[in-house]
Amino acid sequence: MKIFFIFVFIIILYQCIHLTRSAELKEKSVKLSYLELVKERRSINEKKLAPFNDIVGMASSNVIAYSNGNDTYYSNEDNYLYGIYMGLKWQCVEYARRWTFLRKSSTFESIPGANDMWNQLKYVERIIDAEKFPLKKHSNGCPNRPINESYLIYPIQKDMPYGHVAVIVDVLPNSIRIAEQNFNFNYWSYNYSREIPVTFKNDLYFIQDQYEVYGWIEIDDNQQLMPFDPLTVDKIQMKLNENLDLNSSA
Ligand SMILES: *[C@@H]1O[C@H](CO)[C@@H](O)[C@H](O)[C@H]1NC(C)=O
Ligand SMILES: *[C@@H]1O[C@H](CO)[C@@H](O)[C@H](O)[C@H]1NC(C)=O
Ligand SMILES: *[C@@H]1O[C@H](CO)[C@@H](O)[C@H](O)[C@H]1NC(C)=O
Repeated sequence: MKIFFIFVFIIILYQCIHLTRSAELKEKSVKLSYLELVKERRSINEKKLAPFNDIVGMASSNVIAYSNGNDTYYSNEDNYLYGIYMGLKWQCVEYARRWTFLRKSSTFESIPGANDMWNQLKYVERIIDAEKFPLKKHSNGCPNRPINESYLIYPIQKDMPYGHVAVIVDVLPNSIRIAEQNFNFNYWSYNYSREIPVTFKNDLYFIQDQYEVYGWIEIDDNQQLMPFDPLTVDKIQMKLNENLDLNSSA
């Protein structure tokens, strides 16, 4: 009799354990399939190519990135903002210059290709007073950490006949986040286009992109450059008009 009860007890115990385990497994598999779904959605989103002119993302609050369609397309269309030249729609240099205009109220001179920014660009110029602010180069593999809000420059290499430029929009402990045009043609999942690992080896910082990187160019402005304020344009315009009125009445 005693043995019979022990036997029944063991069976009940076994079933209890079995039930909770299968419930746990079920919960786990529901969780897993949800994660897979999210992952799948994201990868579909990442794989979906944006046609030329489509907005692919936005970084630094208000700097929109547009799709160039594919990396062989050359639109031959200029882009201007408030009458100021930004570059060719929708090349990487256009993004870097428009970012500089919207975030730093400045611009930089015309250059043949993105790779030339590394050797040719010496300053950015503030729109309102033409004051020049120096650019400082930091080679990939240097003793200081990559700097936020600087230009990331790539030399000419396979698949990059003009090199490439991106803007560093965030610096994390072991990576940087960048914004750019004409590199990928998918819609961004976040407010940056790519996150690239940064390693620290023999006291040097290396941006570990799949492509060779020259380094990053810092805008050395002592935090004097402010985001572009559309009201400034009105002020300049008003001043011009006042002068015209004075001249014509004199
Ligand atoms: C991106 O969004 C996060 C969270 O909203 C914010 O903390 C970060 O500053 C943003 N970065 C850029 C470059 O816009
Ligand atoms: C690249 O994009 C342009 C503009 O959308 C399109 O006309 C062209 O056919 C595309 N080329 C390739 C190789 O996909
Ligand atoms: C980088 O600069 C952006 C503004 O352009 C700011 O939102 C972000 O917090 C900065 N990141 C760091 C690490 O300072």
